[in-house]
Amino acid sequence: MRDTAKASDLLDWYDTHARTLPWRTSPSDRAAGIMPDPYAVWLSEIMLQQTTVAAVKSYFTRFLLLWPTVEALAAARDEDVMAEWAGLGYYARARNLLKCARAVTELGGFPQTRAELEALPGIGPYTSAAISSIAYDHPETVLDGNVERVMSRLYTVLEPLPDSKETLRAHAAGLTPDQRAGDYAQAVMDLGATLCTPKSPACGICPWRAPCTARAEGIADTLPRKRPK
Ligand code: ADE
Repeated sequence: MRDTAKASDLLDWYDTHARTLPWRTSPSDRAAGIMPDPYAVWLSEIMLQQTTVAAVKSYFTRFLLLWPTVEALAAARDEDVMAEWAGLGYYARARNLLKCARAVTELGGFPQTRAELEALPGIGPYTSAAISSIAYDHPETVLDGNVERVMSRLYTVLEPLPDSKETLRAHAAGLTPDQRAGDYAQAVMDLGATLCTPKSPACGICPWRAPCTARAEGIADTLPRKRPK
């Protein structure tokens, strides 16, 4: 049987504990049918690929002020965009950002499916799932380091990363709900970032404390294991 109870418990937690982030639409707004701008979702996910939330916030806000739409960004001068990107690092991202903005403008807007999104420059499996779920509520599974850590603990996956990746992906996919997929994707990210942290996880206040098998065994903070390089 499909496990919908865990997603539901996590969504209840997210309703009251969601982080307020400049690219995010609150759970209550989403419930009222107010969805985020796909351009903002895409821009934030590209910036967040190799950069922390704290560092991305001011860049994201500035980009949206300078270039409020994907068409505006597509029409920007390359040098201006590269100059505004300075400090975020990984400059291939900025070059792909411009290529992608121009391709999307050519298409007449952002596509919704993972396959179409992954055909665009700079968008890989993680980013396509994030955009498809957060911007369009498609039930896609996001898997980043945070989600891997949460899954490895919830299901006590002792096999080390990266060998365990597909197992962790299957666990994550099994939990992804058909409804509220965007809230759910962001809820797992928040859980990993705020409670299910690498060191000293806050198991006592975790919405998944009851079903978490690694917590029951007292080994949550030892997971995920990593294969020595
Ligand atoms: N990390 C990557 N994408 C994120 C998002 N949408 N919200 C918070 N952290 C993230």
